[in-house]
Amino acid sequence: MELKRAEIIRLLSDEQNQDDLFRQADEVRRQYVGDEVHLRGLIEFSNICRNNCMYCGIRRDNSQLKRYRMNEEELIDTARKAAEMGFKTIVMQSGEDVWFSRERMCRIIEQIKKFDVAITLSVGERPYEDYKVWFDAGADRYLIRIETTDKDLYHRLDPNMSWQNRHECLMALKEIGYELGSGIMVGLPEQSIESIADDLLYLKEIGVDMAGIGPFIPHAQTPLKDAKGGTLDLARRTMAIMRLLMPDINIPATTAMESLHPRGRILALQSGANVVMPNVTEGEYRKLYELYPGKICVDDTPLHCKTCIGAKIMSIGRKVGMGYGGHAGRLPHGAK
Ligand code: SAM
Ligand code: FES
Repeated sequence: MELKRAEIIRLLSDEQNQDDLFRQADEVRRQYVGDEVHLRGLIEFSNICRNNCMYCGIRRDNSQLKRYRMNEEELIDTARKAAEMGFKTIVMQSGEDVWFSRERMCRIIEQIKKFDVAITLSVGERPYEDYKVWFDAGADRYLIRIETTDKDLYHRLDPNMSWQNRHECLMALKEIGYELGSGIMVGLPEQSIESIADDLLYLKEIGVDMAGIGPFIPHAQTPLKDAKGGTLDLARRTMAIMRLLMPDINIPATTAMESLHPRGRILALQSGANVVMPNVTEGEYRKLYELYPGKICVDDTPLHCKTCIGAKIMSIGRKVGMGYGGHAGRLPHGAK
């Protein structure tokens, strides 16, 4: 749908009539991507990060956090169990942990690919060559949020990082042939409604296959501990407009939404979202990958989460997708 910037700003600001927007996004979602909700098994495999983003609980300078890193076997084993549980996509996410070298990641990707799954990587900014080699090894999708298109804000929040570099990473990933996932946080300090409208237009312009939109939630062990944070409603309006702008892409109901509201993901699924990413990380690691406080399901098991979210999806008359759930039916490397 063509929506002008002014119209997007109006919709973002219109709290009173937001239910109409949610209904419209839900209808567009139904028409274009149907009632299936695609589940992705999320493995948070290392909370070690070389970056120091002001908002993020696993930032380098958070010395109160106990750090962990799965070894290759653990990571592959976690993915195998997720595949056995029925997940057709494995998302591997971590801080920017360069211990996972180009070669090491390649070995891991090749092993996990044997489980007949689509692989999404979300490991941050890396050189073109890394992205290329990982794609050739079998990685199908890559998720890296632009966070905000307000460059001044970005540079204040992500010290020593470059917005331009992040943008170029996205361009490289697209050129290599990945299904491209990006997204933003909503409710960052000094983020304007106008800049959120620009973010949405940016995601459309670069042609994302997946857009993750979540509220910013302040973490006590970061410099932004006293910030106000985003609201579920604004994040949901942003997500719903994303659905109107790009009717057939994948849009996750983000975990951060559920951290703000016990039915956050269901509400998101009813206002434009068609993907959920249950955590399949095991044991203590679930707690230690704490990007923001109030993270859900930290004491649950992967199987419990899969069953729980499956039941929630069915309770609203939707069904769990059995396929790979690529954008516009795209199949992963090697799928028949
Ligand atoms: N290192 C990879 C990267 O930079 O893309 C992946 C991990 S990073 C922690 C994943 C995402 O978490 C970020 O893109 C950011 O949007 C989100 N995030 C971090 N801190 C957050 C917070 N306090 N509230 C909400 N989301 C947050
Ligand atoms: Fe983890 Fe419901 S999704 S308990």
